[in-house]
Amino acid sequence: MNAPAGPADLFQAATAFWHSRVLAVAVELDLFSLLATGPASLEELCARLRLHPQPTEALLGGLCAIGILEHDEHGYRNGPTAATWLDRASPDYLGGLFALAGWQFPLWTRLRDLLETGQPQGDRAGLGFDGDALALRRFAETAEGLAADCGPALAAALDWSAVTSVVDLGGARGGTLATVLAAHSHLVGTCFDIPAMAPLFDELAGRLGLAERMLFRGGDFFADVLPPAEVYLLGHLMSDWDEERCTDLVARAAEALEPGGTLVVLDSLIDPDRPSTARNWLVNLNTQLVNPSGSVRSTVDCADWLRSAGMSGVQVRALVGSESLVLGTKPRR
Ligand SMILES: C[S@@+](CC[C@H](N)C(=O)[O-])C[C@H]1O[C@@H](n2cnc3c(N)ncnc32)[C@H](O)[C@@H]1O
Repeated sequence: MNAPAGPADLFQAATAFWHSRVLAVAVELDLFSLLATGPASLEELCARLRLHPQPTEALLGGLCAIGILEHDEHGYRNGPTAATWLDRASPDYLGGLFALAGWQFPLWTRLRDLLETGQPQGDRAGLGFDGDALALRRFAETAEGLAADCGPALAAALDWSAVTSVVDLGGARGGTLATVLAAHSHLVGTCFDIPAMAPLFDELAGRLGLAERMLFRGGDFFADVLPPAEVYLLGHLMSDWDEERCTDLVARAAEALEPGGTLVVLDSLIDPDRPSTARNWLVNLNTQLVNPSGSVRSTVDCADWLRSAGMSGVQVRALVGSESLVLGTKPRR
């Protein structure tokens, strides 16, 4: 048995949302883009952002305490994390993570209601799938944040040398696909997602200089014919749908896959052999707060779905953090 946590650990857990909110509000104010132009004093920042000095000094001090800002005689400046990920002008900007988390924050205050009623506590429309362009951008930028973690790991995890084409099904704005294509210059890839995602995809592909090798196909992955490819990637789709939809999606991807090709599920799954994946129960609570179909999926479930879809050599691999890969090969017949 592990030693019990100390009071300081419990205090840390009880107040973890302080860090989250301080960062989210600083991103919302675009403080880090402002500081990217040079250091600034408390007075200058208050004037530029129209803020009150007393709480702002505490906010800036808090951001220094968690290593996001630095402070010296010239004023406040971005630390390396803020400079790399939180300056809007940075090609690696990930501030979108905080926008979606900020939208989710009030939902978490209704966690007990979810537990007592089993009903979602927020409208899924807030994710942007029903035509709200701002909400869709917020969602897509968060998916991009996740891709910054999973994409490089996926690019390194498979042998892509003999592969020429890949489809990322439900690939959002293409963050994961872009990372794989950037690492393997012989590859061409298609991101299949809802038509409303096209402008966000084009923006990213253009920004990364990958527009010629990275294509977008808008459609409904439950209804439309899926494009053929040698690798099919299903990233973070399995927790969003009921079992019937998951098996359908895996079967549709398997059907579109070229013989000899690889079907790859990349997801926040529970792996009974990896206790660290228990964190994915929290990911799932976050899903259930808005999605009545949201369910915890295990590596065992996914492996079964791949086998049912005719895949051979099905295997489970750890990817990064609490993320897993489940892979299978389509027989050549
Ligand atoms: C949870 S996100 C996963 C994004 C990305 N694959 C990842 O790994 O983070 C689900 C994606 O599926 C897309 N999607 C949902 N329903 C769809 C449908 N019926 N047809 C095509 N795409 C769909 C959404 O727009 C969204 O980008």
